[in-house]
Amino acid sequence: MRKKVIAGNWKMNKLPNEAIEFIEKLSELVKDTQNEVIICAPYTDLFYTLMQAQGTNIKIGAQNMHFEESGAYTGEVSGEMLKAIGVEYVIIGHSERRQYFSETDETVNKKIKAAFKNELKPIVCVGETLEQREQGITEDIIKTQTKLALDGLSRTQVKNTIIAYEPIWAIGTGKTATSEDANNSIKVIRKEIEDIYGKDVAEEVIIQYGGSVKSKNARELFETSDIDGGLVGGASLDAEEFSKIVNYNK
Ligand code: 13P
Repeated sequence: MRKKVIAGNWKMNKLPNEAIEFIEKLSELVKDTQNEVIICAPYTDLFYTLMQAQGTNIKIGAQNMHFEESGAYTGEVSGEMLKAIGVEYVIIGHSERRQYFSETDETVNKKIKAAFKNELKPIVCVGETLEQREQGITEDIIKTQTKLALDGLSRTQVKNTIIAYEPIWAIGTGKTATSEDANNSIKVIRKEIEDIYGKDVAEEVIIQYGGSVKSKNARELFETSDIDGGLVGGASLDAEEFSKIVNYNK
């Protein structure tokens, strides 16, 4: 049985005092859950959230990292730096980074390898645009993104990768993929992993859905056969609302 993993992606939101207050509140609301709870905070909030999350069941992740260990890369943060302060997860290849910061399947693959080198668990985002969906090439796009992202990883590393299927047209738009649609796309991703790495690996990989997940649609999405939780943007900014998503099965 795969665990449900529910991660909040705060994107570029929350000042340290707001982050601390949020973790304090959320930790109380989710303390009894069996589901895995992750908050992916901006770099400037990481240390504060890590301190506040100590002794709770909330894990902390970053939203990006560079693939080099160190060097002349002004403004960048390495996996080694994240690891050093106690970060456990890192989102890689979010569609906003692919779209606005020129991330490619190649840099995504390099970052995933660098994450594993530093014992960080990557949450790797894949998903089609509206245009690609309308052209009927969703399956090809998500299969290719998955294959290129995982290229060269060991079977154990693939088992430890979290994939987030986030159809770009559903992000921040209030449009959610139907649970059936999302589940089908996630099955396509799982099959691609099976074809390359074998059934045992594919059966273990956590694959989340992301795109306008709210407390009112979480249950329907997460109770499907292949959706193993969610990567939540807007609805993760409010502790009460996010806790209801985490506690969807209560
Ligand atoms: P929303 O939940 O705001 O649609 O964002 C989804 C997302 O991009 C999470 O990474």
